[in-house]
Amino acid sequence: MTTKSEKLYEQARKVIPGGVSSPVRAIKPYPFYTASAQGSILTDVDSNRYIDYCMGYGPLILGHAHPAVRNAVADQLEHGWLYGTPIEAEVKLASKITSLYPGIEMLRFVSTGTEATQSCLRAARGYTGKNKFLKIEGGFHGAHDAVLVKAGSGAATHGVPDSLGIPPDFTKHTLQVQYNDIDAVTEAVESNRDDLAAVIIEPVLGNV
Ligand SMILES: Cc1ncc(COP(=O)(O)O)c(C=O)c1O
Repeated sequence: MTTKSEKLYEQARKVIPGGVSSPVRAIKPYPFYTASAQGSILTDVDSNRYIDYCMGYGPLILGHAHPAVRNAVADQLEHGWLYGTPIEAEVKLASKITSLYPGIEMLRFVSTGTEATQSCLRAARGYTGKNKFLKIEGGFHGAHDAVLVKAGSGAATHGVPDSLGIPPDFTKHTLQVQYNDIDAVTEAVESNRDDLAAVIIEPVLGNV
């Protein structure tokens, strides 16, 4: 029984476009609304329990409400939660990450994957002085204009915006090839060599 979720979705559709805050949550005929989560289990507002294979789309590697994380967050709340200034913890965390991953020399913290991929592409373009980048058809890299493209299949195609509100000029440097088509990737890289700044890929395509 999901009566409360159904009602919440009816209300949501009146105040939130499409009823959800991210398209990935737009489950038909309506999504379930989570009330709480613990370990591997989500409990919805109608008290149904679900095994969560999604884990916040990745980041919850310790599961929901892990005591170590909960305690650390609770400790921090005692000291305030938004400063707008640098903090010691970011230096410690960045040092920890760079010490664990030899390939990461420096890093910058951002709030969303969208900001991360946007910054990466900007850095690649700035560094190389080139404009184009290659992505895989169906790959999702966030909600900024240049990556919201789903071109036709076959050899590399130039980007056609996936959403209203994105001028075609903003996606004309986005190239796409089909996943697992090594010949198309080779051809795209070779024929765009002079203006290709980056290749961006989800190593395991999770968003098709
Ligand atoms: C591979 C990948 N990159 C980027 C993003 C965008 O992240 P965000 O929704 O935090 O902007 C997502 C989100 O699902 C993703 O799966």
